[in-house]
Amino acid sequence: MYLPEKTGLQHFVTAEPAPVPAVSVPVTVAHGDGIGPEIMNASLRVLAAAGAALEIEPIEIGDAVYRAGHSSGIAQASWDSLRRTRVFYKAPITTPQGSGYKSLNVTIRKSLGLYANVRPTVAYAPFVATRHPGMDVVIIRENEEDLYAGIEHRQTAEVYQCLKLITRPGCERIVRYAFDYARQNGRKKVTCVTKDNIMKLTDGLFHKVFDEIAPEYPEIANEHMIVDIGAARLADTPERFDMIVAPNLYGDILSDIAAQVAGSVGLAPSANIGIDCAMFEAVHGSAPDIAGQDVANASGLLLAGAMMLVHVGQPEVAARVQNAWRKTIEDGVHTPDIYVEGKSAELVGTQAFADAVIARLGLEPAHLPVIDPAPVAPVRIATAKPVVNRPPEKVLVGVDVFVDYNGPVADLAEAMQAVVMGSYGLQMITNRGVKVWPNGIPETSCTDHWRCRYIASPGKQFNRTMVIDLLRRLAAIGVDFIKTEHLYLFDGEAGFSLGQGQ
Ligand code: NAI
Ligand code: MG
Repeated sequence: MYLPEKTGLQHFVTAEPAPVPAVSVPVTVAHGDGIGPEIMNASLRVLAAAGAALEIEPIEIGDAVYRAGHSSGIAQASWDSLRRTRVFYKAPITTPQGSGYKSLNVTIRKSLGLYANVRPTVAYAPFVATRHPGMDVVIIRENEEDLYAGIEHRQTAEVYQCLKLITRPGCERIVRYAFDYARQNGRKKVTCVTKDNIMKLTDGLFHKVFDEIAPEYPEIANEHMIVDIGAARLADTPERFDMIVAPNLYGDILSDIAAQVAGSVGLAPSANIGIDCAMFEAVHGSAPDIAGQDVANASGLLLAGAMMLVHVGQPEVAARVQNAWRKTIEDGVHTPDIYVEGKSAELVGTQAFADAVIARLGLEPAHLPVIDPAPVAPVRIATAKPVVNRPPEKVLVGVDVFVDYNGPVADLAEAMQAVVMGSYGLQMITNRGVKVWPNGIPETSCTDHWRCRYIASPGKQFNRTMVIDLLRRLAAIGVDFIKTEHLYLFDGEAGFSLGQGQ
């Protein structure tokens, strides 16, 4: 109950004692870097006061572990804890710059098979300033594939490459997760966001799988947008979106846009869901610019904690936390990132904000919607296994040989043609994807990285031995080939893109 005749936080008392669930759930907790320890302490204090029955197993990850010599940022004992508890509550960590380190966030998500990154963003108008009061978007970001496979190579003096991997099972899993989430959470529409006008095979697959699966959910509207206009609309009119499903990179970018236009990156929680494990964290990073100052907003991590409580079967506690949090926001008790002079009531630091939420445990918001304990975990969705189809018939019809070379393309073409012995030929040479031979135009600027495409003559066979022979002859005349990509037909359909201008 709230004692209105008094002022100040010390006069809030909780309306009822916190119900204590019978069984404590083991949870692995990492306090992280930067603002991590501050917001994790604040969040854990609120969860404990709300009656969460959690058995905390602390682990150390991130900066200190990198500096202790683990280039992965995590020690073996921490994996043991994660594999035992299967629930991870994680504060943000700082990823060191430089090629000697891998992003620990990506490593954890992928190692634990956390394929779905669920990022709800809600506007809390008029209590948190936003130009989009009606905004309520859930972004489902694919979490394991795409450019985040982290497979990169320097191939020539001038050219670096990052491999973008998109798989059919990965697309099916995430698209199904999105529609199942929509169904379970009463959502009305899923928007698929890709760049398949350019990346016709990779993003094209994501879009195609979306179109295949959407009709299985006739009650949920579906649409597709190219990522550039999708991002523009999300920034401008987020109210028009209900749910978004996207490959990893676009999902990452879109969820920061969504969180920012909703009010603050400090407010947005995220759940990383796999078949067996789950990780709960804020959307934002370790914010080194404000670390150690007791000014960070703990809300993103706290609300992620509420998602975790639902996940581990403590929805009543989760609702208590969310309702007290909403009441605190409504009462204008704000950290600097959302504080507005004249509108907010009180400027508080990280720990005082946590105290304010604790003081309101048991209370409900008066204006914002009250959260009811969820009947089912909103993110724990058992999606159907991806369909395993008959493997397609795969026929090798040629090879792309990539060459490190400086000089006129005509000379390269002559050398690459001279080694051909058999029923195939040099079809084209491209530079950064653009056809420069035959019939290139002089305006095209070229780098030292050439793709030379050999293709079987019509009606003729091509095989791997011919590739090896070809490479042997190229090596003999001193051609510096750096990699090959095989050209396959799958059930008669080309498994490779054309050259630009081809
Ligand atoms: P960031 O999200 O840490 O900060 C961006 C801006 O938002 C900063 O101005 C920061 O002060 C502000 N901000 C972020 N969280 C806030 C909060 N809770 N309250 C108030 N203001 C907040 O992104 P940045 O600076 O690009 O990354 C910093 C480090 O975090 C990098 O090392 C990055 O790799 C890492 N990072 C870690 C993530 C994770 O652990 N899941 C996610 C994203 C970044
Ligand atoms: Mg991000």
